[in-house]
Amino acid sequence: MASELKLQISVDVLELSELSTAECQAMELARQAANDAYAPYSNFLVGAALLLEDGSLFKGSNQENAAYPSGLCAERTALFALSANHPNKKISLLAVTARRRHEHEYLAAMPCGACRQVMAEYEYKQQEQIPVLLQGPEGKFYRFKTVSDLLPFQFTKENL
Ligand code: THU
Repeated sequence: MASELKLQISVDVLELSELSTAECQAMELARQAANDAYAPYSNFLVGAALLLEDGSLFKGSNQENAAYPSGLCAERTALFALSANHPNKKISLLAVTARRRHEHEYLAAMPCGACRQVMAEYEYKQQEQIPVLLQGPEGKFYRFKTVSDLLPFQFTKENL
């Protein structure tokens, strides 16, 4: 008889007014980062901000390329730049937002699978959960307690 695993993921769905000061600051920086996105092909501007354990903030945006697959998403741009510049700083929050060029409305920013995998790597590395705050639909925000909730059954160093 086959057994079954049931997963339960709880996501906080929040209004802007329900975000903490630190969450607001991170989301605001993600919005600023989106303004700097280099996205001449998709015109889809994505911004990511990392709040670090020491209270400082770090940002990244999507970087596209005429050779399309050579581009990189905002989340990975931020995470790789952080790890390259501050390899030992722990992340206490990752915030992501997106909008179309020439439009003011922020759009749901659901990280792609490759970005989730990279988030999982750094969560594993720091051995502390990384909460993820995403711009959700209709002006709401989705807050995940851990990257594991965005990427269950993940492949990590443990699997090698
Ligand atoms: N993009 C991101 O920056 N993050 C994601 O998680 C999904 C997609 C970017 C990649 C590309 O520059 C543009 O959005 C359209 O796919």
